[in-house]
Amino acid sequence: MDETKMMDFVGRAVGDVGALLGGAMVVIGDKLGLYRSMAGAGPLTPAELAARTGTAERYVREWLCAQAARGYLTYDGIGDGDGLFSLPAEHATPLTDETSPACVIGAFEIALGSVYATDTIAERFRTGEGYAWGAHDRHVLGGCERFFRPGYLNHLASEWIPALDGVEAKLGAGARIADVGCGHGASTILLAEAYPAAHVVGFDAHDGSIEAARKRAADAGLTDRVHFEVATATTFTGTYDLICFFDCLHDMGDPAGACAHVREHLAPDGTLMIIEPYANDDIADNLTPVGAAYYGFSTLLCTPSSLSQDVGTALGAQAGEARLRGIVTRAGFSSLRRVAETPFNIVLEATP
Ligand SMILES: C[S@@+](CC[C@H](N)C(=O)[O-])C[C@H]1O[C@@H](n2cnc3c(N)ncnc32)[C@H](O)[C@@H]1O
Repeated sequence: MDETKMMDFVGRAVGDVGALLGGAMVVIGDKLGLYRSMAGAGPLTPAELAARTGTAERYVREWLCAQAARGYLTYDGIGDGDGLFSLPAEHATPLTDETSPACVIGAFEIALGSVYATDTIAERFRTGEGYAWGAHDRHVLGGCERFFRPGYLNHLASEWIPALDGVEAKLGAGARIADVGCGHGASTILLAEAYPAAHVVGFDAHDGSIEAARKRAADAGLTDRVHFEVATATTFTGTYDLICFFDCLHDMGDPAGACAHVREHLAPDGTLMIIEPYANDDIADNLTPVGAAYYGFSTLLCTPSSLSQDVGTALGAQAGEARLRGIVTRAGFSSLRRVAETPFNIVLEATP
C-alpha cells in the first residue's frame, strides 16, 4: 500500500466532509437571504450582515467562517473587530440569480432534501423495495423545480424547441402540448409563456406536485391556457402535437410503457421531446463531477422512484442515449435524434 496515496485520499475525503456540511451552509445562506444581502455590498462584518438580515450575529459569524473556509466567501481581514467577509461577484450570480443558467442554488436544495432519506434508502438496499418521489422531503420537490428551471428558462424556447423538426411553427400557430411528469410545472408554464396560442397540459403522478403547479399557474395568470391533472405517464388522456418528458422518464417504473402510451396520444405528425440528465453510454465516461452528482441523486431519488412503481425498470439518471434509443424505438418510434445538450441535460427528439 502506498502511504502517500492513502493520505491524499484522506485529504480528499476530509474535503468531502466539508462539502457535505457546506451544502447545508448554502441552503441556510439562501433561505435567510445572507447571500442576497452580501451581493454587491462589499466587505461586511458579522454584525452588519446580521443586522441586514434580521439574524443572530453569533450564528452568522460561524456561518461566514465556514463559507470562507470553503472558498465561497472571501475573508478580507480583521477590520475593526470580528472580521470582514465578502461575496465575490462571480459567486453572487450562481448563488442568488435564479434566472441565470449558472445558478446552483436549486442543486443544493434538492441535494440536502435527498440526504434526509439516507436511512430509508439504506433500508431499501436490503429489501429492494422502492421509495416514491412524492414521499421525499419538500426540499426535494421544491429543489428539483429550482434546479432545472434555470436551464429550461435559458434554453427551452430559444434553443431546444427550435431544434425540433417543424415544431416551433406549430406551437406558434396554437398546438396542443402535454408535459408529462411535470412536477411543479416549471417547464409547463415556460412553454405557455413562450407560445401564447398553444394549449398546455401538465400531468404528474404526484398529487402534491400538481397542487403546487396549479398555484404557480394561478400566480402567473395563466389558468386559461395551462391545466394540470394528476395522471401517470401510462394513464394520461388527450391527443397532442408535442409531448414532453422533462427530466422524468428515467424516474418512471415503466418508461417503455410510457413511450408506447405517448405513441397512442400523439397527433399523426406529432413529436416526443425527451429531456434527460446529461449522460454518456459508457460508465467510465460518466465518472465526472456532474456524473457523481447524478449517480448520487439516482441512488437516493430516481432509482427508488422507478422501483416503487409497476415494472420497476430503474433506468437510473445516467442511462445514456443508447439505452433510451432502445426503449423509444421498441415503443414504435422510428427515430431518436439528439438535438441539443447542456452540461446538465441532453435533449432528444423522437418521431413516429
Ligand atoms: C425529477 S422530477 C422532474 C419534474 C419536472 N419535470 C421538472 O423537470 O422539474 C420527476 C417527476 O416525475 C414524476 N413521475 C415519476 N413517475 C411518474 C409516472 N409514472 N407518471 C407520471 N409522473 C411521474 C414525479 O412525480 C416527479 O414530479
